Amino acid sequence: MSRKKIVAGNWKMNTSLNEAIYLVQQISKNKNTNSEVLKIVFPPFPFITEVAKTINNSANFYTGAQNCSEFLNGAYTGEVSALMLQSVNCNYVLVGHSERRQYFNETNQQLVLKIKNALQHSINVIFCFGEKLEERKGTTHFTTVEKQLNQVLSHFTETDLHNITLAYEPIWAIGTGETASPQQAQDMHAFVRKTIANLFSTKAANNISILYGGSCNAQNAKQLFACADVDGGLIGGASLKADDFCTIINSF
Ligand code: PGA
Repeated sequence: MSRKKIVAGNWKMNTSLNEAIYLVQQISKNKNTNSEVLKIVFPPFPFITEVAKTINNSANFYTGAQNCSEFLNGAYTGEVSALMLQSVNCNYVLVGHSERRQYFNETNQQLVLKIKNALQHSINVIFCFGEKLEERKGTTHFTTVEKQLNQVLSHFTETDLHNITLAYEPIWAIGTGETASPQQAQDMHAFVRKTIANLFSTKAANNISILYGGSCNAQNAKQLFACADVDGGLIGGASLKADDFCTIINSF
């Protein structure tokens, strides 16, 4: 998959079924100013089927899951497998979100298994990573991110990478209203691309899409998306308001 412009909405543990359908209907009505932009929404598990039906194969609009199990199937109460997601036309899955790492203690080893399962079931992955505030303050943010990328992506091939999108999400910016400046985002995205070139190849680095996440909103998206190495955004809070999300989609 070559480099794409993407705006993805991570709804987290929000919305009811009716709210989810309404939100997706409103987003569907948006006249994209740039028809190449991929839109992806990540509703809670129980709503994926209905959201996918509502989207109904509209162009460049996809449904994703916020998580999937590291196990393939079996006695794992409460888990949702990649096979189940595939069977309800779920096209994407988020892996490595900081809230999963922090509150559910997900390890790199588990993230590798989750990505393997997703790819095996033809589900595209958005792999999230990013530094904590103390790492940014201690200027170890580049080495932290490099480690996060190396420890997980070294288990995959350059071909696997065609179905993986990256999302740089500095933890200090998630849900805080404090956004990385366009310069901070650009510097890190360029560094991520360099890391991918070292791990795989320059071609792989040029082809991979790298999204920014962390208090990206209708006001700051344009400036962030104008950065050379920022290919779009992974949006939390602002993806729950159709107008704001559509403004972000139209910010390229
Ligand atoms: P936020 O969340 O936009 O609300 O900061 C981003 C995310 O967690 O993906």
